[in-house]
Amino acid sequence: MTKLGVNIDHIATLREARKTNEPDPVAAAVLAELAGCHGITVHLRSDRRHIQDRDVELLRETVKTRLNLEMAATEEMIRIAREVKPDTATLVPEFPGELTTQGGLDCVRNYDMISAAAQELEAAAIAVSLFIDPEKQQIEAAQRMGVPIIEINTASYADASLYLTLKTELTAAEALEEIKASAILAGSAGIRVHGGHGLTYRNVRAVSQIPEIEELNIGHNVISRAALVGLDRAVREMLALLQEE
Ligand code: PXP
Repeated sequence: MTKLGVNIDHIATLREARKTNEPDPVAAAVLAELAGCHGITVHLRSDRRHIQDRDVELLRETVKTRLNLEMAATEEMIRIAREVKPDTATLVPEFPGELTTQGGLDCVRNYDMISAAAQELEAAAIAVSLFIDPEKQQIEAAQRMGVPIIEINTASYADASLYLTLKTELTAAEALEEIKASAILAGSAGIRVHGGHGLTYRNVRAVSQIPEIEELNIGHNVISRAALVGLDRAVREMLALLQEE
């Protein structure tokens, strides 16, 4: 079965809409874990638009599965990660004003910077994951860096599968093939493979059936459903899909 990491950023988005103290990401993490998820993911953005430093500190003390901190490879974030010590740090590109993460890291062009950040995190006993597009050169660069995990960006497939055709150049089938080929390449290089971005109850199955992909990180869709049916049910329904053969 494919593991599920639940990204709870949007619980904090709702709280920050009023700059108040509810809903609490810590409570959401507890509920998601009780429903059976395998990990909790949060993205501490440089602009602190949703998750705050205090959330990360509290989650580090309360999460019983695994805490995955998504972060830009900046000095500030590396310092915070080294203090908080999440189980995994997923390095992502971050641009001011973006609605969500736009594409994967460019590990070829920014090799030295990303590699140095990964080494600083690994030195603090934090497993590093690189969020990258499903491209051969990116996987090869990640392999040269010696990182233990990559997270393949599933956005092109996800957008195409939901017929958001204006956003994508590939068909869903073509985008899925790229993800599969990248997962196989990374797996054969001994890199653990995660995936995520844009996945929903409707399109997740094709990705979860790729044997090399151990874990998927899903946020917006699960939290959206949770707003209507409750977090426990939303997480259980996603887990049920990931468990199907
Ligand atoms: N993985 C990464 C690296 C992300 O940046 C995000 C979005 O925060 C996700 C997974 C989850 O994406 P979504 O919210 O579309 O499920």
